[in-house]
Amino acid sequence: MMLPPTQRTKLDESDDGLFYDYPRFVTHVDDGFIQQLTELYREKLQPQTRILDLMSSWVSHLPEEIQFEHVEGHGLNEEELAKNPRLNHYFVQNLNQNQLLPLPDASFDAVLNTVSVQYLQHPEAIFAEIYRILKPNGIAIISFSNRMFYQKAIAAWRDSSEEDRVKLVKLYFKAIPGFTEPEVIARPSQVPTVLQMLGMGGGDPFYAVMARKA
Ligand SMILES: C[S@@+](CC[C@H](N)C(=O)[O-])C[C@H]1O[C@@H](n2cnc3c(N)ncnc32)[C@H](O)[C@@H]1O
Repeated sequence: MMLPPTQRTKLDESDDGLFYDYPRFVTHVDDGFIQQLTELYREKLQPQTRILDLMSSWVSHLPEEIQFEHVEGHGLNEEELAKNPRLNHYFVQNLNQNQLLPLPDASFDAVLNTVSVQYLQHPEAIFAEIYRILKPNGIAIISFSNRMFYQKAIAAWRDSSEEDRVKLVKLYFKAIPGFTEPEVIARPSQVPTVLQMLGMGGGDPFYAVMARKA
């Protein structure tokens, strides 16, 4: 087992469905982060392909000018997903209760997961599902900042440095035979954490870990 049970715990162990019961029509990262993410999608995603936005909300950060064949959304709050203009269809499912995705094998060209991987208590089961539903050569793009709902992030994430979080996501990919060697983009914040905490800027750091189904 990759993570011992203690590393999967959350400070708030109540049902995640309760925490996401009311919609949050906010962006969880700053404009600089979103621009970098959208640019990455512009580079990695192809028009007229099938995309899954796993752990989505009312925004998917996809390039406006690219038309996809289908964008499937998933999340915990139906109101947020219903407002997301990029989604052709969506479903609500608590991934900490049920890790099996109701999606066919080899049916997506890309799976996106934005600023959410820290909430997964069974990441290897979810990454196995991501692998299953990807088409050959399909890509999974996991992006994150240093922000989180602290009480809902797993201990392994909460207690790690940003560098170690990158290693953790790489391990999630490596736990599933058949993913290519993960590619990493790491752009740490240029401002020391103490100054950020005093509100002295610096912007969100940007991290993305990506791999393809070989
Ligand atoms: C910080 S938000 C990010 C939303 C979106 N990806 C974005 O970029 O704005 C975290 C998302 O993770 C999803 N999430 C958290 N815990 C979950 C769980 N146990 N099962 C399924 N989704 C979950 C919620 O729906 C929430 O929208």
